[in-house]
Amino acid sequence: MPSKIRVAIAGVGNAASALVQGIQYYSDGPSRAGLWHTKVGGYSISDIGIVSAYDVDARKIGSDLSKAIFAKPNVMPKQVNVKPLGVDIEAGMLGNSKQVPAGMKIITRNGSIADSLKKKKTDVLLNLVSSGNDAASKEYAEAAASADCSFVNATPTKLANDAKLVSKYSGAGAIIVGDDLMSQFGGTAFHRGILDIMNSRGIRVKKSYQLDVGGGTETLNTLGEDLRAVKRKVKTEAIALEVPYEIESVAGTTDYVDFMGNSRTSYYWIEGEQFLGSSVRFDIYLRTMDGPNAAGVLVDIIRAIKAARDKGQKGSENTISAFGFKSPPKRQKLSQAYEEFRQKYLR
Ligand SMILES: NC(=O)c1ccc[n+]([C@@H]2O[C@H](COP(=O)([O-])OP(=O)(O)OC[C@H]3O[C@@H](n4cnc5c(N)ncnc54)[C@H](O)[C@@H]3O)[C@@H](O)[C@H]2O)c1
Repeated sequence: MPSKIRVAIAGVGNAASALVQGIQYYSDGPSRAGLWHTKVGGYSISDIGIVSAYDVDARKIGSDLSKAIFAKPNVMPKQVNVKPLGVDIEAGMLGNSKQVPAGMKIITRNGSIADSLKKKKTDVLLNLVSSGNDAASKEYAEAAASADCSFVNATPTKLANDAKLVSKYSGAGAIIVGDDLMSQFGGTAFHRGILDIMNSRGIRVKKSYQLDVGGGTETLNTLGEDLRAVKRKVKTEAIALEVPYEIESVAGTTDYVDFMGNSRTSYYWIEGEQFLGSSVRFDIYLRTMDGPNAAGVLVDIIRAIKAARDKGQKGSENTISAFGFKSPPKRQKLSQAYEEFRQKYLR
């Protein structure tokens, strides 16, 4: 049976691996634990079908998606024996991106992927390329707009925040959401949740930090000075939304540890003031896995986009962006963003 939501992936890394594994896992057993929402906008996870995938790493191009998700340098563990999908990885686009991982043999295509997206009648293109590839990310976004295909920007490149690009989507009859995916239960969401409860219980938060350590190529990639500064700014701005006054805060990735694989530890230190000036202090850590943390929210974003398109929406979709991303065009507290998403897509 043809899929109801036809999805393409740019960047077959760890997040893509968890997504592909998750679609099969929950299609086979929708009541299995860990799936945030069984239905979004009336769609089940089994309604999602991957119709094409693009990468620039020679180790992945040409193999079936079911195999490529386990190819090096991916470190997302194999949780599911994925059946052959009949989707061979195609060469992607690089634009003039300079962020090419050392030692990787690169293969790119001649021209854009717009024709391929059109031919496959793609509803949604997921941009899951390594962060820092700004030019390539922009090319994917332009290609999707010209193929009337909606676009999910998981990377920190400013695309859903680019007014010119958004107007192309309005003209095309497609949706663009982003920027920088917010994991289902990752460092940022958890940090925001703690600050929110402290603030709502009358604690005056003074200082807060979140220092992440992890494995995987994306963490390694993030340690470059420029990208690290960009990511730190995004995370710090996202957590600042939870309290209505300024706090001293730092949030970002501080180191790469090869043997951690796809896992990440976020260390938190938060200090606040309570009644009579007494102090409240947190010193805790959270351990999670990056791939599943991304995929857990991507499956909701994909289904919500399709539901919004069914109703004729185009251009920006602020409810989905505020729900699923750290830098949405319209910023909201986490609880408000979730409530809006619930009203629109979960009833
Ligand atoms: N929890 C999460 O995993 C999470 C959270 C927030 C944001 N993100 C973002 O999602 C993206 C993917 O994360 P990941 O952990 O899967 O990264 P990854 O490094 O595991 O995978 C990236 C993949 O993109 C490919 N790639 C690089 N440039 C490309 C191009 N121009 N065209 C096609 N493919 C290209 C790489 O070869 C690799 O296969 C990153 O930008 C990351 O910042 C992830």
